[in-house]
Amino acid sequence: MAFDLEKLLRPHINKIKPYSSARDEYSGKAGIFLDANENPYGSLAAGNFNRYPDPYQLDIKMKLAEVKDVPANQIFLGNGSDEAIDLLMRAFCNPGQDNIILLPPTYGMYEVSAGINDIAIKRVNLSTDYQLRPEAILAAVDERTKIIFICSPNNPSGNKVRRSDIYEVLNNFNGIVVVDEAYIDFSDEPSFTNELTNYPNLLVMQTFSKAWGLASLRLGMAYASKEIIKILNLIKPPYNISGLTQEKVLEALDNANAIQRIVEDTLAERAFLKTELEKFPFVSTIYPSHANFLLIKTEGARKIYEYLIEQTIIIRDRSKVVLCEDCLRISVGTRTENEALLKALVQYKP
Ligand SMILES: Cc1ncc(COP(=O)(O)O)c(C=O)c1O
Repeated sequence: MAFDLEKLLRPHINKIKPYSSARDEYSGKAGIFLDANENPYGSLAAGNFNRYPDPYQLDIKMKLAEVKDVPANQIFLGNGSDEAIDLLMRAFCNPGQDNIILLPPTYGMYEVSAGINDIAIKRVNLSTDYQLRPEAILAAVDERTKIIFICSPNNPSGNKVRRSDIYEVLNNFNGIVVVDEAYIDFSDEPSFTNELTNYPNLLVMQTFSKAWGLASLRLGMAYASKEIIKILNLIKPPYNISGLTQEKVLEALDNANAIQRIVEDTLAERAFLKTELEKFPFVSTIYPSHANFLLIKTEGARKIYEYLIEQTIIIRDRSKVVLCEDCLRISVGTRTENEALLKALVQYKP
C-alpha cells in the first residue's frame, strides 16, 4: 500500500474552514488599515508592533527557500519546532486511538506532546551505540501508527543516525517519518531536505534555536510536501510567529554566512572540552558528538550534577533516561564557561 495523505489525515481536518484573518483578505502593504481593530497610534514599547504580523511569514520563507534550497511552499514556520511537533499530532493522530513510535533515548517533547494529545506511544529503543533498529521499528508499526520520530543528530546522545537506516524506515512505512535535525548545522551530514522530492511521507524539522543563536525568538522550521505544509498552515493559530521574531529572523537570514564561524567555534570548543573531560578518572566514556553538546558516562552522575549546581554550573542529568545510565549531557559553552566547568571538576571529590 502506498503513502496516502488523505487517508492518514484525521477526517474532520478536511472539513475545517480556516480562520480568515484580516491580513489574509488583503495582502497589499499600502493602504489605510481599519480592518483588524489594531491601535493606529503606535506601541507602548520602542518599535512598531501595533500591527498584526504576516500570518504566513512569506518574506522569511522566500529567503529561507534560497538558503535551504527548498521551495517556499514546502516550508512551515512554527513557534519553535515544538509547535510543529504538536500540530503534526493534532493533524494525524486521533486521540485515544492512534499511536506514534519514539526511539529512546530521544528528545523529550515528542512524548510530552503525545501525552497532551492523548496519543499512545510505542517505544523502540535505539541500539547501545544509539543507532536505529529499523527491523524492530517496522515490526512495531500497526494500522494505527501514524508518525515515527527520528532525531539526527540525536538528543541526548549527540551522534548522527545512520542514513541507510532512515531510508529503510522511509521506504517501508506509510505514515509520516519525522527527521528532527535541530542540530544538523553542527554535523557534516547532509540534510534530509534533499530527499523531500523522493519521499512524500518525509517531514524534516530544523530550528533557529541552536546554531542560529535565536532560541529566545522561538522559530522552528518544518519542511515537507506542499500538501503536508498546507495542512499545518490550516490548523496553526493565525499569527503564530510574532512580528518581532519575523523582523529579527530576517536580519539573521541576511547574515546567514556568519553561521559558519559560530559552528567552527562550537566544534573547536567541543573538541577542547572532550580532550579535557577525558582526563578525569570519573569520566568513563565520551560519546561521539555531531551536535553542540557532549554526552558523557561517569561514575556517580547525580552526585557530579548536584556538586556542579552548588557551583552554579548547570548541566543536564540524563542518568534516569533509558540507555543513559550514569550519563550527563553538557552543552558546549564559550572558552570561559568551559574552563569554569573544568576548574570546578578539578575540585570535585567523588
Ligand atoms: C532534538 C530537538 N528538537 C527540537 C528542539 C526544540 O527546538 P525549538 O527551540 O525550535 O522548539 C530541541 C531543543 O532542545 C531538540 O533538542
